[in-house]
Amino acid sequence: MCRIFLDEIACLDSGFFYVINHGIDKEFMDEVFSESKRFFNLPEQEKMKLLKNEKSRGYTPLFDENLNPANQIHGDYKEGYYIGIEVSEDQSDAQKPFYGPNKWPSEDILPRWRKTMEKYHQEALEVSRSISRLIALALGLDINFFDQPEMLGNPIATLRLLHYEGRTSEPANGIFGAGAHTDYGLITLLATDDNYGLQICKDKDAKPQIWEYVPPLKGAFIVNLGDMLERWSNCFFRSTLHRVLGNGQERFSIAFFVEPSHECIVECLPTCQSEKNPPKFPPIKCEDYISQKYKDTHADLSSYA
Ligand code: OGA
Ligand code: NI
Repeated sequence: MCRIFLDEIACLDSGFFYVINHGIDKEFMDEVFSESKRFFNLPEQEKMKLLKNEKSRGYTPLFDENLNPANQIHGDYKEGYYIGIEVSEDQSDAQKPFYGPNKWPSEDILPRWRKTMEKYHQEALEVSRSISRLIALALGLDINFFDQPEMLGNPIATLRLLHYEGRTSEPANGIFGAGAHTDYGLITLLATDDNYGLQICKDKDAKPQIWEYVPPLKGAFIVNLGDMLERWSNCFFRSTLHRVLGNGQERFSIAFFVEPSHECIVECLPTCQSEKNPPKFPPIKCEDYISQKYKDTHADLSSYA
C-alpha cells in the first residue's frame, strides 16, 4: 500500500504530493497560523529585535532570501521566521553550524507563541519520520533506514513561518513571492492558507518551462522531496522546481524542512544503482551541500547590524 502510494501515484511524475490524515489537529494548525500572523503583524522594529542569527534562528525580513538570484531583480517578497531544534549553548552540538538555541519573542508580547511553535515542531517532526519510513520502503530499504543517528536520529529540522506581501509577482520582470528553487534536504512539509501562490515545474529543462499551481488543501501537508533524496535515490525520486507567485493578496505558509544530520554522507543507495544505472552524483557531506546553497540564497544579515 505504501509503495503504491509513493512510487506509482505520487512521486514519479513530480516530487510533490499531499498528505492527509497526518494526525496533527486541524484546530491546532489554525492556532499555529494565527500565532504566526500575530508575529508578522508586530511593528517592524519589534521584529528586527529578533533578527536571524548565525545559527539561522529568528526573523528574516523582506528580501533576505533570493531563491533564484539569476532571475530575480531583488530578493523574495516574503518575510520569515526560522525555528530549529532547541540545542542549548552547553551542549556540544551547539558548536556546529545550524545547531543552537532558538530566538523567541517576549512572552509579554506573544504569551503562547513559544509553546505553540515548539509543539508544532515536535509534531511535524513525527509526521516527517513516518513519511521517511514510507520512502524507505518504496526504495527497498529497511523501514528504519532514515531513522539512523546520522540521518533523522539527529536531524536539522527547521520550521519556517512565512508571510508573503500582497505584491503581485511579475515573472517577466524578475519579481517573485519566492523565486524558483528546489528544497535542499530530505523532505519538506508545507502547510498553506487558502490563497493560491505555489507553483511547480515538472520538467526544469523544458523550454519554455511550464508552471502549474498546487491548489491549497485545507488541513493537508503539501510534501515535497528535496535534493538529498534525489541524490540518495539516483533520481528515482526527483526534487521538483517550485516557486511562489503573489496575486495581490497577502499569503501565509508554514514550511518544515527536514534534513539529515550535517555529518551525514549522502551517497547513491545500493538499491538505486546497477551496472546500467551507475550513480549520477558523487557522495557529498550534507553540511557542505546545504551551507553552499544557503550562502547562495541569503543576504548577509551582518549588514543590518
Ligand atoms: C520554501 C517554499 C512555498 C510556500 O519555503 O522553500 O517553497 O508556499 N515555500 O511558501
Ligand atoms: Ni521550497
